[in-house]
Amino acid sequence: MKIIFRINQNITVTKAGTLSLFLWLLVCSSISAATTPERISFNAGWRFTKDNAPDTNLNYSALRPWILPTGNSLSTNPAQSRPDTEPVGDTACAQLDFNDGQWRLLNLPHDWGIEGPFKQEYPGNTGKLPWWGVAWYRKHLEIPATDVGRKLFLDVDGAMSYASVWVNGKLAGGWPYGYSSWRVDLTPFVKCGGDNVIAIRLDNPTESSRWYPGGGIYRNVWLVKTAPVHVAHWGTAVTTPEIHERSATVQIQVDVDNETDAAVTVSVKNKIFELNADGTRSQLVAALVGTSFKITANQSERTSGQMIITSPKLWWLEKPQRYVAVTTVEQSGIVVDICETPFGIRKSEFTVANGFFLNGRQLKLNGVCEHHDLGALGAAINARALERKLEILRECGVNAIRTSHNPPAPELLDLCDRMGFVVMDEAFDCWVSGKNANDYHILYSDWHEQDLRALVRRDRNHPSVILWSSGNEVPDSNKPGGPALAEAHRNIIRAEDPTRPVTAGVNSYKAAFSGFQNHFDVFGWNYKPDYYTKFRGSNDTLPLVGSETSSTVSSRGEYFFPVPQGHVSKNNQEALADFQVSSYDVHFPSWASLPDTEFSRQESNSFVAGEFVWTGFDYLGEPTPYNADRSNLLNYSNPADREKAKQELDALGKIRVPARSSYFGIMDLAGFKKDRFFLYQSHWRPDFPMAHILPHWNWPERVGLVTPVFVYTSGDSAELFLNGKSIGKKTKAANEYRLRWDDIIYQPGELKVVTYKNGKRWATDTQKTTGAPAKLQLSADRQKIAADGTDLSFISVAVTDKNGLQVPRSKNQIQFEIEGPGEIVATDNGDATSFESFQAPERSAYNGLALAIVRSKSGQPGTITLKAVSPGLGAATIKLKAKL
Ligand code: GAL
Repeated sequence: MKIIFRINQNITVTKAGTLSLFLWLLVCSSISAATTPERISFNAGWRFTKDNAPDTNLNYSALRPWILPTGNSLSTNPAQSRPDTEPVGDTACAQLDFNDGQWRLLNLPHDWGIEGPFKQEYPGNTGKLPWWGVAWYRKHLEIPATDVGRKLFLDVDGAMSYASVWVNGKLAGGWPYGYSSWRVDLTPFVKCGGDNVIAIRLDNPTESSRWYPGGGIYRNVWLVKTAPVHVAHWGTAVTTPEIHERSATVQIQVDVDNETDAAVTVSVKNKIFELNADGTRSQLVAALVGTSFKITANQSERTSGQMIITSPKLWWLEKPQRYVAVTTVEQSGIVVDICETPFGIRKSEFTVANGFFLNGRQLKLNGVCEHHDLGALGAAINARALERKLEILRECGVNAIRTSHNPPAPELLDLCDRMGFVVMDEAFDCWVSGKNANDYHILYSDWHEQDLRALVRRDRNHPSVILWSSGNEVPDSNKPGGPALAEAHRNIIRAEDPTRPVTAGVNSYKAAFSGFQNHFDVFGWNYKPDYYTKFRGSNDTLPLVGSETSSTVSSRGEYFFPVPQGHVSKNNQEALADFQVSSYDVHFPSWASLPDTEFSRQESNSFVAGEFVWTGFDYLGEPTPYNADRSNLLNYSNPADREKAKQELDALGKIRVPARSSYFGIMDLAGFKKDRFFLYQSHWRPDFPMAHILPHWNWPERVGLVTPVFVYTSGDSAELFLNGKSIGKKTKAANEYRLRWDDIIYQPGELKVVTYKNGKRWATDTQKTTGAPAKLQLSADRQKIAADGTDLSFISVAVTDKNGLQVPRSKNQIQFEIEGPGEIVATDNGDATSFESFQAPERSAYNGLALAIVRSKSGQPGTITLKAVSPGLGAATIKLKAKL
């Protein structure tokens, strides 16, 4: 195991200027090709095979001994080293000469689970998709003879799960936790000047997740080549201990590995450049030339120093200015490694009295919790899909993300840095005591330290990260050992990053008063709006945040009658039908609440730092309130469906529940806005003029019947008109966030709302009764995409009447065809009960909308034409440009 020595070097500060830039260029030009560090995408051209039968006999605890990494700086336990024993199972396919010609050829990131098929008998809680089992990936790799003497590493951003990496038939390393990022040293196993094979075995235990985890090498992988003396993996830490208007102090700490058998003398230099919004470098603003120091053979050493940036540009959410620290390691005047560390200059602080402050300004956290899946794309990471999510969330007024309940893809944090979101970065869903037979508790004792250190070390330079969370609703919170575990986690985190507070999402009421709470710097409480005041009464030194809130459930475009009055919970069946949930936003499970309740409690307890709503987007799995996989509910809105279900109930004694994705989202699984989007927007963007009416106004079966109308607006009052006639004006009372007209008698036509704020006209909205479905309308989120094989265009299809009005309850079947250099990678419609394949080029609309996701082809510019056809509705096309 490597020991890190701390060296505090003399601090040298040089002023930014032309001369240093010139010297810098000279230094860069002295790097020879063989010593230039390389980080090469390693995603293309893998062979894949999967045995579909889950290995149910495997005892996952037995996997522990062989998978532990040889000692590394992520573990302080010297007993943890990899013995020579090799894992169970057939490893013939890890060998160099194995013929993988029959295996499927694919590019990473890849999620085998999302390919389906959905099966009724699979658990709804994990999405009714087959994500478990054993699979292998293989890739041939030609390594040039010129790489002799270099270090070669495989960096894996995430593989689900229990990964073992084989190089030319030899076990080289691995990592079990599917959400961690990790590195394997390939150097001892590779042959420079010849063919090599890397084989990765994954093994997903059943019953290891409470949501859809995905399966496969679902994040990016990289081949990294360095000199034997190089900056350690995640070996830089940039902090900003002093920030003033005129200057900021930037502290940089660099760990340098000497992976040679001789002592070396190195010098480490750092330069800081401002970054443009697009990530390119702007001017040099500070530089630091460190003194030389020695590193003994096969050891690491740490050096640190400070630089001053004058007139620093702070990282704000509205203008997220970033800088980059460029670290060079020199040996005998030759640059042997260069490492870039983007960072931001910002002061973030949680206070007891007034919540969270960014750069001295109070910032109410209008946050959402997000699982890692990307809907129809599954767990396979795609930066544009993530960016689209953040764009929609920003429109809603969201400013904070909680990475529930695991380390996120690194791309999420890059995007949050760049776009201006703050992040609660979470490690685990359980510690010693598990929630599922094979979940993280199996790994906990051997792995939590490495996993925690890996998370913090990887993510500590992101300005967006403001909180570390060591866990979510851990059952240990009420067990005798809980406080010690929490304290141990806090110590590990602080050792890697002393600058940010540690929290957890705690659901236990008791744990906020038992002493457990004192092992956190900020207390994160899930679903306790009614106890915020009580918490403060007993905890007068601990900042508080609503780490998980609301959990209101709804299905986009579904409305069931009668609409319950007031706050509704579990047993009010009126809000439920057809395995959907009414979008009047009145239904929530027993532990949860309405958005309105959380708004009000946050307002009356202004010391609470804000909230993280469960969730921004629907996700695969956990289809509460339909997560039992069986039911005897006969509440169908369509008599034919009811009859069919009745027959099933008579024959089987149960109705098999088709629900496979959640109902919690402010957006549905396809990313379409539910009504709730507008409720949150009205509260989180009070200065943005908006009004939204629900429900839709197509109720031929309800003529003459009471059909309540709700209005969400950032205004303070509203007047509702039905077919031009005023039905009255309503004003929001204190702690009232939606306006309700509960006794409107339905008649077709036009419903219009005019809202006011401070007596002035503010915003309007209308709902019109539409005609029958007549045509399709296509619209793309972006019509110009990069021809890089990863960029996406999200194309929405609306089923409209002849006047172009979206027809609310339309479910028309749509067929997609594509021409040009693009492919349809997924289709969706946001229906949580649909078993249509996400990969199929046809898809029924769900309540008027469907989605096709089109991806460009690498290196192939040109025009992509997407055509949507539906019987009786004709065809519609849209053109996209793929550009190099
Ligand atoms: C919470 C839990 C989340 C999710 C949510 C649903 O208790 O932390 O992971 O299950 O409930 O309301």
